[in-house]
Amino acid sequence: MVTTRAPEDAYTAGPFVPERGGLAALREAAAGCRGCPLHRDATQTVFGAGAADARVMLVGEQPGDQEDRQGRPFVGPAGKLLDRALAEAGIDPGDAYVTNAVKHFKFTQAEPRKRRIHKTPNLREMTACAPWLAAELALVEPELIVVLGATAGKALLGSSFRVGQVRGTVLEEEIHGRRERLVPTVHPSSVLRADDREGAYQGLVQDLRTAARVLS
Ligand code: URA
Repeated sequence: MVTTRAPEDAYTAGPFVPERGGLAALREAAAGCRGCPLHRDATQTVFGAGAADARVMLVGEQPGDQEDRQGRPFVGPAGKLLDRALAEAGIDPGDAYVTNAVKHFKFTQAEPRKRRIHKTPNLREMTACAPWLAAELALVEPELIVVLGATAGKALLGSSFRVGQVRGTVLEEEIHGRRERLVPTVHPSSVLRADDREGAYQGLVQDLRTAARVLS
């Protein structure tokens, strides 16, 4: 039997992204995205959440286990820590638009019913998903993007992005045809994994204070 399969380079969400209709139309269309293979194993698309007029957009990597089940970004342990850090830095989490570079959960699972272990999305999957993030940026037009970790940084700023080199600084870059201001910081999951959790948490809060100053 001959099976036809698109070359992996052809993975893209582009044809699924509607040209009109605002965030609601985007979210609805994203639910049916088949732009890369990640939709096959994930429970659902986890699209961005928050107001279309949010002043700040937070961009993470991809939904985790909880997000995949609940269909909303940053509702699991990393999200709870992020909300606490935002509030401590002076940014109301309810005022932010929160999304991810990749909209489906990528994981490995030793056996059915065993724990699903997060797997970092690769460049092809990030590139395939980029049209959704571009569409969110074009609609929300945030004053500031908070880049949460390396995958979000690579998705927005290119593969040479190194979070350790630029965290806590204010960057200005052309992204998808718009001049954007960005403050990169670590991913909240890395705080949960850190040996010095309190130190890592304080570092995150300090970076978010830089973001809060840009917004003030
Ligand atoms: N980690 C992310 O990057 N995004 C989520 O939505 C949850 C965990």
